[in-house]
Amino acid sequence: MIHLYQAPKTADAPIFLFLHGTGGTEQDLVGLVSLLDSEAGYLSVRGEVSENGMPRFFKRLAEGVFDEEDLALRTARLIQFLRDQAAERGFDLDRLIPVGYSNGANIAANMLFEEALFKQAILLHPMVPRRGVTLPDLSDVRVFIGVGSNDPICPAQETEELSALLKQAGASVDVTWSNHGHQLVMPTIEAATDWLKH
Ligand code: MLT
Repeated sequence: MIHLYQAPKTADAPIFLFLHGTGGTEQDLVGLVSLLDSEAGYLSVRGEVSENGMPRFFKRLAEGVFDEEDLALRTARLIQFLRDQAAERGFDLDRLIPVGYSNGANIAANMLFEEALFKQAILLHPMVPRRGVTLPDLSDVRVFIGVGSNDPICPAQETEELSALLKQAGASVDVTWSNHGHQLVMPTIEAATDWLKH
């Protein structure tokens, strides 16, 4: 998979797993590392699906309607890629903290719906990736959700649903609301930075 990697500066610093939104690339979110934790490293991946030339992490049938078969396949491929990277580069998988925006947040959420792979995750403008499934035990997992109260792509009700599903699985979930629609804004990043310190 096309990706960028930067090693963390210290032995116990986290490694952010940056997952871009539709039409983005592995370059998009790497600038956040210095804001979130200047000691941290990152692994930033480009989605393998192309929607009219726009990279994504999985196919969709329409806006907000996911191709669940493709989502399952791409989620498994991404998890395998992360396992291979962890083995090659010599870090523990749970040192990764996914930071996903939009489509990237959706695949990050879907990885958590599959397995408690991470201890912490930052989901920026996520949706509910799948419905009617049993989640794994997420009681050791903390999740930060940053969303827009007026986001036309991820309505507030959808955020409440995602948050409830994660909590029912045992995760500790913190939601921060902004009012800039689907746009990723600095106050959300500042709230995530703060959340990481607690
Ligand atoms: C998706 O995964 O389709 C998103 O949440 C919406 C988008 O990426 O535009």
